[in-house]
Amino acid sequence: MIVCHCARVTDRDIRNAIDDGASTLSAVVKATGAGRCCEPCRVEIRGLLGSSAAGDHHADAPAAGGL
Ligand code: FES
Repeated sequence: MIVCHCARVTDRDIRNAIDDGASTLSAVVKATGAGRCCEPCRVEIRGLLGSSAAGDHHADAPAAGGL
């Protein structure tokens, strides 16, 4: 799915940028070129950043138990 039509950037491109370490909106914008011209793209990128953070590939569940 194309997220940013002016730069022709897809959600996959954005997820790849996030996987490569772009952890903020500005980092994704810089890495992909998406979101430079309009706010709706930035909203979409924020959503992808949020869903990526909630994904399982970076899950660091705290150790259960303790005292
Ligand atoms: S369509 Fe490219 S920044 Fe919105």
